[in-house]
Amino acid sequence: MNTAIEKMLPAHWPRVRAVYEEGLATGDATFETEAPEWERWDASHLRACRLVALAEGGRVAGWAALSHVSARKVYAGVAEVSVYVGAEFRGRGVGRALLKALVRESESEGVWTLQAGIFPENTASVALHEACGFRVVGRRERVGKLKGRWRDTLLLERRSQTVGVD
Ligand SMILES: CC(C)(COP(=O)(O)OP(=O)(O)OC[C@H]1O[C@@H](n2cnc3c(N)ncnc32)[C@H](O)[C@@H]1OP(=O)(O)O)[C@@H](O)C(=O)NCCC(=O)NCCS
Repeated sequence: MNTAIEKMLPAHWPRVRAVYEEGLATGDATFETEAPEWERWDASHLRACRLVALAEGGRVAGWAALSHVSARKVYAGVAEVSVYVGAEFRGRGVGRALLKALVRESESEGVWTLQAGIFPENTASVALHEACGFRVVGRRERVGKLKGRWRDTLLLERRSQTVGVD
């Protein structure tokens, strides 16, 4: 599917939020149970590396962004990936285009390690991340509760070969 990958603008937010809600509805995307308002989302994600995939007519088909994993200086180049594709656009290469662009953008911003915590049941997301150079570090057992049920997550990471090499 032809999509244009562009920088996320505040004007994209209503559709970005709607796509996020479609991800929440799968029950296998995140421990979160409701979409935040713009201010909270904006404060919890890196300013750089916010991308949208635009379908024909400029509709947001998906988005990707990063959040810091720690305030410690040593982890300044380590960031957590979020990638969400609207239900009607899934399985058509949008996630792959977004994640590839996010990897490129993150490296140009000096990020050396990208990580993702993914429910093992989310086979599409695990396959997508592996296709973009992530490896499974390990399985975190019953690490958190979602809607009353303890869930495992897989920790995946991608170490840059070009950033933070010496
Ligand atoms: C996970 C998600 C982002 C994948 O995006 P997508 O646009 O559907 O994925 P793509 O079409 O780009 O597929 C990329 C690769 O992922 C894998 N993949 C995609 N859908 C899959 C599925 N249903 N089952 C297994 N693998 C799948 C394939 O390896 C595919 O590569 P291929 O095209 O060479 O076969 C999307 O399904 C989504 O938004 N889900 C809900 C929100 C979510 O779970 N986000 C991730 C939170 S960790």
